[in-house]
Amino acid sequence: MTDRSALPRLPGERTDYLAGSLPDDAPADPLELFDIWLAEAFSRREEHGDLPEPSAVVLATVALEADGAPRPRSRTVLLKGHDAEGFVVFTNLDSDKGHELASTPRAALLMPWYPLQRQVRIEGTAEQVTAAESDAYWSQRPRGSQLGAWASHQSRSIASRETLEAQYAAAEERFGGGPVPRPEFWGGLRVRPTSLEFWQGRPHRFHDRILYTASADGTWERHRLQP
Ligand SMILES: Cc1cc2nc3c(=O)[nH]c(=O)nc-3n(C[C@H](O)[C@H](O)[C@H](O)COP(=O)(O)O)c2cc1C
Repeated sequence: MTDRSALPRLPGERTDYLAGSLPDDAPADPLELFDIWLAEAFSRREEHGDLPEPSAVVLATVALEADGAPRPRSRTVLLKGHDAEGFVVFTNLDSDKGHELASTPRAALLMPWYPLQRQVRIEGTAEQVTAAESDAYWSQRPRGSQLGAWASHQSRSIASRETLEAQYAAAEERFGGGPVPRPEFWGGLRVRPTSLEFWQGRPHRFHDRILYTASADGTWERHRLQP
C-alpha cells in the first residue's frame, strides 16, 4: 500500500513572500488598483523578463452536465481591454467557453502574477461585446491570426494536424489577397465584475487580501479578508 502519511516535498515550497503589501486604505476604486498592478506586471516583464504574459488570465466558466450538474472549466486567454464596464477577451464564440457563457453567463477570471507575489480574482457576469468592438479588435489582428480564426472550429476534434493545415490553406485560398472579414462566430466577451480580490503575498503566509464587492448603487465596498 502507498504510504500517504507524508506528501512528497516539492522544491521551492517555502518561498517567503516579501515583495509588497496592501494597505487598509487601498484605492476605493478597484479599477484604479487593477491599473497599477497591471502596469507593474508589464514593468516586471520589461525589467526581469520573468512574467512573460502579463495579460494572461485564467477564465473559468460553468458547463452543465446532461443532468444539470455544474462542471467548472478553466483555460487561459489574453485580456485585451478593461474599463469600468468590464474585462474583455476575444475568442471563438462557438467554442466550448462561448457556449458555456451563453448558457450560464457567469465567469471568473484569475490573473496569476507569481513573480510579483500577487493574484487578482475577478467574478462577474458575461456578455458579448458589440459587433463594432469586435470589428475594431479584429482589424488589428495579424492576417495569419485572422485566417486561423476562419480555419479553426475551436474546441471540436479533428482527424489530424494535416486536416487542420488543409483548413488553413482553404481559408487562404478563399480570401486570396483581399481583406479577411471577421467571422460571425468570432468576437469579444466582456466580464462585468461583481467582485475583485487583490492578493499580495506576505511573510509567514500571513498574506494581504482586499476584496471589493459591487453595491447596487454602482459603488464598491472594500473589505479585508483573512489570509
Ligand atoms: C497564454 C495563452 C493565451 C491564450 N489566449 C487565448 C485567447 O485570447 N483566446 C482564445 O480563444 N484562446 C486562447 N488561448 C487558448 C485557450 O486556453 C483554449 O485552449 C481555447 O480558447 C479553447 O478553450 P475552450 O475549448 O474551453 O473554449 C490561450 C492559451 C494560452 C496558454
